[in-house]
Amino acid sequence: MEKDGINKPARVLWRLGYFLRELIVSTLSVGPIPTHVAFIMDGNRRYGKQQHLNQGGGHVAGYLALKLMVLYCRELGIKYVTAYAFSIDNFKRSPEEVRCIMDLMVEKIEQELSQVDNTFSRMGVRVHFSGKLELLSQPAMDAVKRLMAATAGNSKALLTICFAYTSTDEIVHAVQETCRRKLAPDQIEGKGNYVVKVEDIEKHLYMAVAPEPDIIIRTSGGHRLSNFMLWQSSNTCLITFSQLWPAMSCWHLVWAVLKFQRNYYYLEKKKKQM
Ligand code: FPP
Repeated sequence: MEKDGINKPARVLWRLGYFLRELIVSTLSVGPIPTHVAFIMDGNRRYGKQQHLNQGGGHVAGYLALKLMVLYCRELGIKYVTAYAFSIDNFKRSPEEVRCIMDLMVEKIEQELSQVDNTFSRMGVRVHFSGKLELLSQPAMDAVKRLMAATAGNSKALLTICFAYTSTDEIVHAVQETCRRKLAPDQIEGKGNYVVKVEDIEKHLYMAVAPEPDIIIRTSGGHRLSNFMLWQSSNTCLITFSQLWPAMSCWHLVWAVLKFQRNYYYLEKKKKQM
């Protein structure tokens, strides 16, 4: 065991994996690389049960998978990564599970903020949280704000974590915000024009921080969007894998990019026809 806690065979294996990924990146870079990849991370609890992990162990494995996926996306030059971590409907789960996920979030953010495990900062990734954040517990809300502030200056890539998010809530929020601004006494954005346009709503969507996703990947074999990025996904390549989220590997991302490249000209043509 060496001083950073990683033994020699593990280090050699990691380096081998790195060179293999470099080779894949240079091959894939011959074609178009997606700008924005979004993930519906499904299957953490099933993974936890399958692997006989303690309560919450599936979500811990899910968080590790997210960090690795962001690393692979960075290596591929993907500028925007979005993860659907927790929907507003997930608040209907047992209070113990909701608390366990919030606690995990606080714990992982604290680690990220310390110099011990600041993976996202080391990759130059800005972390942003999207959704109805007022639903978060106070410690989770404080942690989220601190992480967003600490990574605000990173510009290599943007990781958006959708938490307490649903598309329907996002659209309602954007419409309400548009009306509020147009009807405000000083008409912040209205300037006498009360007509609500698509651009007005788009400006106030939680996901206005990123362009429309090129790819949405859903794990665990589901074929639904589950109220995720409905406004933004009319020209998105949808890909599902039967693997549970924590079991996702670099190869799944490679497969998804290849599928995107095969459909690229068709999707670009459809965008222009809109
Ligand atoms: C979906 O699997 C996953 C969740 C609802 C929670 C995901 C949360 C994390 C990975 C932790 C987030 C932490 C940070 C810092 C972002 P599921 O629970 O629906 O699993 P199932 O499909 O097997 O029931």
